[in-house]
Amino acid sequence: MLSGLVALECKAQYFIHGRFCMYQIHVNYYIFNHATSGSSKGFTEKHMVFWVCVYIYGLHSGFSNVPDNKDSLFSASSLSLRLSLHFVTITLPPKMPTLVSEAFQANGAEPLSLKPVFSASGVKGKRVTALSPKENALTDFIQTVIAEKPDIDSPFSVLDLGVVLGLMDKWTSKLPTVQPFYAVKCNPNLSLVGTLAALGANFDCASKAEIEAVLSLGVSPDRIIYANPCKSASHIRYAASVGVNVTTYDSKDEVEKIRKYHPTCELLLRIKPPQDSGARSSLGLKYGALPEEVPELLSAAHAAGLKVTGVSFHIGSGGADAQAYQGAISAAKSIFDTASKLGMPRMRVLDIGGGFTSGAAFDAAAVKINAAIEGSFGNDEELVVIGEPGRYFAETAFTLATKVIGKRVRGELREYWIDDGIYGTLNNIVFDYATVTCMPLACTSKPEDPSCRDLKTFSSTVFGPTCDSLDTVLTDYQLPELHVNDWLVFPNMGAYTTSSGTNFNGFSSSVKSTFLAYSNPIITREQTMF
Ligand SMILES: Cc1ncc(COP(=O)(O)O)c(C=O)c1O
Repeated sequence: MLSGLVALECKAQYFIHGRFCMYQIHVNYYIFNHATSGSSKGFTEKHMVFWVCVYIYGLHSGFSNVPDNKDSLFSASSLSLRLSLHFVTITLPPKMPTLVSEAFQANGAEPLSLKPVFSASGVKGKRVTALSPKENALTDFIQTVIAEKPDIDSPFSVLDLGVVLGLMDKWTSKLPTVQPFYAVKCNPNLSLVGTLAALGANFDCASKAEIEAVLSLGVSPDRIIYANPCKSASHIRYAASVGVNVTTYDSKDEVEKIRKYHPTCELLLRIKPPQDSGARSSLGLKYGALPEEVPELLSAAHAAGLKVTGVSFHIGSGGADAQAYQGAISAAKSIFDTASKLGMPRMRVLDIGGGFTSGAAFDAAAVKINAAIEGSFGNDEELVVIGEPGRYFAETAFTLATKVIGKRVRGELREYWIDDGIYGTLNNIVFDYATVTCMPLACTSKPEDPSCRDLKTFSSTVFGPTCDSLDTVLTDYQLPELHVNDWLVFPNMGAYTTSSGTNFNGFSSSVKSTFLAYSNPIITREQTMF
């Protein structure tokens, strides 16, 4: 396969000081990497700088226009040498603006289909079960899974690819100018990530492991933003080595690290949104430059020779008031203006972060966001707008099935132990302030009516499996009489669940397996499935 160096470009500059001549040699070389050629951007541009110091005895021959300016410390010349050695005659494709995904653009123009999803990395080769349009199709499917393998490892989950497709379709129709960079931290399940990649999404990664996971699916590194404002040096070096070239920052120390370990990385300044959105998880306590810090942070990056190409923010995750996007977008615009006033190159990337939920709230947020972008930026054709949705794509796509492993009756109260809890997949109750719901699946004790419809219910407590009494999933929750080896099914369990569980008490936290299914997605545009 074609892979290797395809073009080399050298540029030399010299500086005179006394009888010393310092040559600064810039080498740009282009590498074609077959592995990343899927996006047609398999060309990676690399840049190296060498310094050579020469002591001049006599007349400095080779360059007759050397300025004789011995008094200045270092006088720079404008001479530049261009040697172009093309080992293979090949026309380099025009450099795509960073963060603009061809895949997303293409999909934005056409109705989405599940066809590319079935051959996506992370999905291909796995069984994907079609769900009937019936109301209880998903619980029926879970029942079939349990019936096929009664000793199946519990807990397990079901990922509905039709839901993901429907959400992507909705995103492209309601926010057509905003490219989604799925926030992998929300749920790094490879079938989900592969599906989103096949549907044209790009990715927000927060660590080396997340970048590795996305790259392992064959996604090109230029579809990844390293959206963590504070990174360890080794992770930055890794990003540089694999060609992840855009990141966020909000401190001078971060500028210094990036200058040292990844000087060609583009930066987005992460700002704290001006208005509290009332989100369940407010990220502004930890990240985001304050308005008074902005000029210094911009100047620091500029002085370090780094390109600041835009601004990012996050209004907070879960139940945020969409109004907060408006204030943050307008604050971002004023930072674009500040950068121009400071003589920096024009910014062009607006990263509106995450904070989206699915359902009607998304439609309302989209209207506000579109209006705010237009209000602040007009029809700026050079503007690249990206978002980092996590919860939006993951939450409703996953359903969790857990087994009842214990029971106690205290008068009218029923107490159940299940094999997942707040130290496992259900950690979203603690870390994400989630309110969970569940449905009974009495497939062992009542196979003739496993959903126990119209049966008497009892006030019930549902405990997780660890010895900590804090490990309580539900209290005073109405459930029919269940028995050991029956199941509880928790819908909407995809966001901040498996990604943040622990191994406390020796329980390996996360779901043991994920089954793939597809329901008929609710698509906003007319489409055929295949
Ligand atoms: C930088 C960044 N981007 C995106 C997200 C995803 O947010 P959400 O799940 O609310 O869309 C997060 C969540 O913490 C984040 O920290």
